[in-house]
Amino acid sequence: MKLFDVYPLYDVTPVSAKGIELTDDKGKKYLDFYGGHAVISIGHSHPHYVNRLKEQLDKIGFYSNSIQNPIQKELASALGKASNCEAYNLFMCNSGAEANENALKLASFHTQKSKVIAFNNSFHGRTSAAVAATDNPNINAPINKQQEVTFLPLNDFEAFEKAMDSDEYCAVILEAIQGVGGLDEPTTQFYQFIAEHCKKKGIVLIADEVQSGFGRSGKFFAFQHHLDPERSPTDTERSRSVQPDIISIAKGMGNGFPVGGILVHESIKASYGLLGTTFGGNHLACAATLAVLEVLKEEDLLVNANELGSYFKEKAKEFLEIKKVKGKGLMLGLEFEFEVADLRKRLIYNQHMFTGSAKNKKLLRFLPALNITKTHIDLFFEGLQKELG
Ligand SMILES: Cc1ncc(COP(=O)(O)O)c(C=O)c1O
Repeated sequence: MKLFDVYPLYDVTPVSAKGIELTDDKGKKYLDFYGGHAVISIGHSHPHYVNRLKEQLDKIGFYSNSIQNPIQKELASALGKASNCEAYNLFMCNSGAEANENALKLASFHTQKSKVIAFNNSFHGRTSAAVAATDNPNINAPINKQQEVTFLPLNDFEAFEKAMDSDEYCAVILEAIQGVGGLDEPTTQFYQFIAEHCKKKGIVLIADEVQSGFGRSGKFFAFQHHLDPERSPTDTERSRSVQPDIISIAKGMGNGFPVGGILVHESIKASYGLLGTTFGGNHLACAATLAVLEVLKEEDLLVNANELGSYFKEKAKEFLEIKKVKGKGLMLGLEFEFEVADLRKRLIYNQHMFTGSAKNKKLLRFLPALNITKTHIDLFFEGLQKELG
């Protein structure tokens, strides 16, 4: 049997990885500034992560969601505290698409409606409702087109207000920083405008934090950049001003272990059988996620993401070729005047550095582990300088 050939591949075969470094089968070392689509949050094979997974595997790796699983409860409690989202309940699954699929399904159950609002250039995954809410006709099969999704321009208040004339929407799904689309962001005013309208109309607001969550943007969740300090004095009250009803998570959550989930606001009630999955929330997935949370705290990685993001932005100013630096924390992109596919290839083969692409073909994405150092950023810009000539 051969592989179903859906992925265009670079000719690199990593066989080991440590921190931000990958080593290929010929012993060549690469710097990983992409983390395999924004997945590696605390570095490859972090010792604490490896030990926690090994210890868990020695005890019990998996059982289904029909038994008591204290490590899931431990994780829910730790995640609530780390994210300042203690008014939410956790449902676990296995990927970002699955998280959004469950979020949309739950919104539909909750409201008994079926239409969804998403935004231009959105990416929410490749499964049924998630792909229908993804702004890319090439990955929507005829079977996905039965979902009714309205795509609106980001930051267009008028278009959003007009859509609110309808009473048929169950959900608005929104990335606080667009990942695959190319790092465009809703303004704070727009985020708050959406949140207020959703509250008023009883529409479920879904914050897709699959890529931007777990500290990548410099806050635990990227929507938390839009908390309004003017409106209310305490963090908890502030959260209320842009409080999503559901928050979807995956990617950096497991640092490579396939795990996803949704945080469901306590105003949305659970009932037996409403959602379910065989693998979701298994012991190993919980151990991986707890290890990530522990390292984020122990190494103060949200602070590092902010500081190094600012350092990256300063360094980028030295390059006339860079038109714009986009993003927050260590969820960053460099926009050039030209398409970057060739530059990205040269960075891999000549400079041995992984970076990412986006739907915006002029954008080079930079999504390293949150514990990189200034030296790594200097090395990136040295490599970039060599390739720009
Ligand atoms: C914002 C966002 N949501 C959802 C997904 C889908 O995640 P997965 O590939 O784990 O299904 C992605 C993947 O890139 C993403 O960036």
